[in-house]
Amino acid sequence: MNNISELCVSVEPLRPHHKVIDVGDIFLDPRYNRFLSLPVVQDGIPLGTISRSHVQQIFMARFGRELAGNKPISQFMNITPLIISLDQSMAEASQHVTSNIVFPITEDFIVTDGGGYHGMGSVIDLIRGLERQLVSQNQSLEQAYEKLKDSQAQLVQSEKMASLGQMVAGVAHEINTPLGYVQNNMELVRDAYGKWGELNGAYDALFGLMESPGASEADIGEQFASLQQLREEFAEVYPRDSMESLFSDSLYGLRQISEIVVNLKNFSRLDQAAVDNVDLNECVISALTIGKNVIKHKAEVVRDFGTLPRVSCSPSQINQVFLNLLTNAAQAIDGFGKIVIRTLADAQYVHVVVRDNGRGIPPELLARIYDPFFTTKPIGEGTGLGLSIVFGIVKDHGGQIQVKSEVGKGTAFCVSLPIKRNLN
Ligand SMILES: Nc1ncnc2c1ncn2[C@@H]1O[C@H](COP(=O)(O)OP(=O)(O)OP(=O)(O)O)[C@@H](O)[C@H]1O
Ligand SMILES: [Mg+2]
Repeated sequence: MNNISELCVSVEPLRPHHKVIDVGDIFLDPRYNRFLSLPVVQDGIPLGTISRSHVQQIFMARFGRELAGNKPISQFMNITPLIISLDQSMAEASQHVTSNIVFPITEDFIVTDGGGYHGMGSVIDLIRGLERQLVSQNQSLEQAYEKLKDSQAQLVQSEKMASLGQMVAGVAHEINTPLGYVQNNMELVRDAYGKWGELNGAYDALFGLMESPGASEADIGEQFASLQQLREEFAEVYPRDSMESLFSDSLYGLRQISEIVVNLKNFSRLDQAAVDNVDLNECVISALTIGKNVIKHKAEVVRDFGTLPRVSCSPSQINQVFLNLLTNAAQAIDGFGKIVIRTLADAQYVHVVVRDNGRGIPPELLARIYDPFFTTKPIGEGTGLGLSIVFGIVKDHGGQIQVKSEVGKGTAFCVSLPIKRNLN
């Protein structure tokens, strides 16, 4: 629906009498009742228009009919009519009409077909056509916007799932280490318990012999000797201090596992909309625990934490922000580097700075890093969504994110969140 012929419902076909004819004939022709102007054509070529009101004025004037009735219409017509070509688009037609119109709304325009007369169109219909077009464009824009919102939500979700997948692998690894040695220790304890059962049996046997009236000195001596041997073996294989550290190591391992589980729970609190008063230092610690597996092989982490006022935010989302920044920092380091996390507050904002001494970002790429899908990582390694999600979350929280980077020296991201959030 772009062409004037489709939209301008009032375009009238050429009629045989659309020639230069006298005013009386045109005025009397009832077929023009749809239009406010009448076309004046000669040999199929449009020459001008004359408006109904103009014709009326002429005829109503004193002796108008008598004086003007026999004169050619060319004497009264508007010689600069609005002319639209049939193949013009709605946009072109309306631009031409609106910039040349003399009598708003009441003026009509001539539609030409390859220079010849094709018909008349009315400005009111053109405006209606435009309005219809606008409404339908608006609808399709709204639909496109809805679709875009949906797919953005899906992307955010799938990025979350992807980072969740990575995290799960990392967390599984983190749990696996303490779990491994707790398991080993338990096996040792089980063996020791078996040996201890043997030792206990030997004690029982010795006491049994000592209590039995028929037992000889030699029997008792023999049993005593074998008990002694078992005791020595036990003490050698399971010395007391090593058994104690076996228990304390296992307890330490179990504590580590439960710490990871608590952090994981904090991290993935699915309280999307929930807004808590949160200590951002805790969020950083949470993100560090979850990302530990990725970070520990790449960098030493230095925590330079200040005392922070609580911030009203959604902790699960803010955790995601820090995890993304920390993961990016670790991934930007060749070999083994350093990540410094500094937290501080002023009267209005809490700032968290994540600084790495990695590769840095070339100045010409800095403007693109928040774009969705912008990545410099190989296919399969980066989706390029991390920072765009970070940006969205920080913006939703009424905060700001800034970056400073120098190639070869490193990069610092500073996330600033308002302490008091204006919720609307
Ligand atoms: N700390 C950093 N040091 C150097 N470059 C960085 C750093 N953080 C981000 N970048 C650059 O910005 C790009 C976009 O980062 P973003 O987190 O959006 O996506 P990604 O890390 O490539 O992929 P994803 O986060 O989806 O795994 C990265 O590919 C990288 O080039
Ligand atoms: Mg990333």
